[in-house]
Parts: sequence; C-alpha cells; structure tokens
Amino acid sequence: MHKDIKRILMSETEIADTVCRLADRLNTEFGDEPIVAVVILKGSMFFAADLIRKLNMPVILEFMKVSSYGSGAVSSGTLRLDLDIGTDLAGRNVLIIEDIIDSGNTLFRVRDMLSQRGAKSVKICTMLDKPECREADIHSDYIGKSIPPEFVVGYGLDYDERYRNLPYIGVLDEKLYS
Ligand code: IMP
Ligand code: MG
Repeated sequence: MHKDIKRILMSETEIADTVCRLADRLNTEFGDEPIVAVVILKGSMFFAADLIRKLNMPVILEFMKVSSYGSGAVSSGTLRLDLDIGTDLAGRNVLIIEDIIDSGNTLFRVRDMLSQRGAKSVKICTMLDKPECREADIHSDYIGKSIPPEFVVGYGLDYDERYRNLPYIGVLDEKLYS
C-alpha cells in the first residue's frame, strides 16, 4: 500500500465487482436504447473506461471537463467549463459518468446544463457517493458505493493531481492536507 494511504476503501476486486453490478443494472434498464455517455474528466476516466466496455446498448462517447475544486480538498463552489461535448443532445438519453458525488454542486450544474440542451433523459452514474456531504438537491441514479465523509484517492481520484494511478481507492492520510 502507498505510504500516504491510511486505509483501503475499495480493493481492485471490489472495484471490478462493483463496476459489473452497475453495468448489469444499466444494461437491464436501458435495454437497446442508445445513450450518450458524458464522461466527466479527469477523475472518472478509469471508471468510465471499465464501465462503458461492459455496456451493450449503442453508446456515443463524450467528454466534459469542469473544475470546481481548485487544487485542494475543499470545494471552491465555483464551476468552470474547460471542455464541452460535441454531440447534439436533443432527444437523446444522456448518462453522466462521474467519479464521486460529494457536495453535489458540480453535478447539479452539469445536469442542468445538459438538460437545457433538450436531452430526452439525463441520468447520473457515480462510482462513489458521500451522502453526508450533500449541499445541492441532487442524487446519483446509479451508485457504486456510498462512503463516509473522508477524502479518497486512487482509481482516477486525485489530491492535487496525485494518486490517480493507484489501482485501488484509499483514504488519504489527513496529515497531507490539514
Ligand atoms: P462536488 O461538487 O462537491 O460534488 O464535488 C465533485 C468533485 O470533487 C468530484 O468530481 C471530484 O473531482 C472532487 N472530489 C470530491 N470528493 C473527493 C474525494 O474524496 N477525493 C477526490 N476528489 C473528490
Ligand atoms: Mg478532482
């Protein structure tokens, strides 16, 4: 285990099982309905890559990059759109794929933005959920795992751009950011 990690929250095996379970649900619920998968960069890239390869319906792959956290572990509360998608969403089913829903402020604004473009439906799939940290009135429709309000890294999740490459998800030692 990496020296900066206090505890492993999801092992590689648990991650793989969780992704399979989410993909099964999505395959059942969407059936043959085409979707536009909007992957929120950068944190959800590994999750999205694993999940999308298990989906059976026709999938258009799109990327969006927003920043709301600056470089630290506390939300700055402002959202900047750094990269937008290129597909017209009118009449389409959109599935937003995100690493984690924390205060919910990011996804609240992203969902709003995408809904306003005339999508038929907008659903949210997140690997992790921190329900106790919620500020915005929003929930994720498909959740891999609900976790306590601790700062986690790995499997795409970063602290100041570090630790994304860890193959597991772990709780970061507070000494590194307090
Ligand atoms: P929200 O707007 O507070 O829901 O924050 C969502 C974004 O904050 C996520 O996409 C992550 O990039 C980041 N974030 C929130 N909690 C964590 C965490 O525990 N570890 C790493 N990034 C996090
Ligand atoms: Mg981040």
